[in-house]
Amino acid sequence: MTATLIDGKAFAAKVRAQVADYVTKIKAERGEAPGLAVVLVGEDPASQVYVRNKGTQTLEVGMESFEYKLDAATPQEELVALIQKLNADPKVHGILVQLPLPAHLNSDLVINTIDPAKDVDGFHISNVGLLGTGQKSMVPCTPLGCLMMLRDHHGSLAGMNAVVVGRSNIVGKPMAQLLLGDSCTVTIAHSRTKDLAAVCRSADILVAAVGRPEMVLGEWVKPGATVIDVGINRIERDGKTKLVGDVHFESAAEVAGAMTPVPGGVGPMTIACLLANTLTAYCRTKGLPEPKGLTA
Ligand code: GUN
Repeated sequence: MTATLIDGKAFAAKVRAQVADYVTKIKAERGEAPGLAVVLVGEDPASQVYVRNKGTQTLEVGMESFEYKLDAATPQEELVALIQKLNADPKVHGILVQLPLPAHLNSDLVINTIDPAKDVDGFHISNVGLLGTGQKSMVPCTPLGCLMMLRDHHGSLAGMNAVVVGRSNIVGKPMAQLLLGDSCTVTIAHSRTKDLAAVCRSADILVAAVGRPEMVLGEWVKPGATVIDVGINRIERDGKTKLVGDVHFESAAEVAGAMTPVPGGVGPMTIACLLANTLTAYCRTKGLPEPKGLTA
């Protein structure tokens, strides 16, 4: 292997420590703590694990955690009413509705009910529009984590060719906006892109967020490129369940200059950035200085 590993686990621990320090200061000076409300509808096992981890880590940095677990058959009006209650609650500074929602619920309508100032996922159309026009916004957690690692590794990203494989609203599109904001030349590619391998080979920064196990091969990677693997895929191999990314790690690590592993790369950064966003939302609401290095 020739690539330097970008240690997301260690980076996430640093981000959480920075958040925790600021929260300690807030508690001492103001006698209150930022609060994050997480709403889970239904019993999707992966979502249950995420929500539990979010709650635990929220408490670990000293914030207040409010969890709402609703029945899978919860009517839309009930979910909307809960979000409106959280919007009005002064102890709640961040609201996250875990996706995907059960099919009978309109995710767009639900997300757009969240007060944009409390939208710590950055999914509300106001925040999407603010990010797209280069204005201050809440930024989706996973791409924010990727950006932090890239800035830490490279310093300035200006002028670099960035290719984002994947066009989801949660990762691909906001990732492209963030890289553009840092003056990269950005291409958004996807499963229907012609000669995807050649497009990927043009990248100084290659972000894989397609949700297909080990799709990006070493021969798609430009020598020395930085590869950020957003994928988390469970596969069966040799009779065991294994976690792999969207990048074929062994072959890509022979070519890349730097690379995030799976697990231990992008994954831990997502919750760390959720906590950072909750702190940022709190600071903006209260007119306090924002934490340094934790926003786009
Ligand atoms: N489901 C998968 N990723 C996410 C995320 O970043 N936020 C929310 N709310 N749901 C998700």
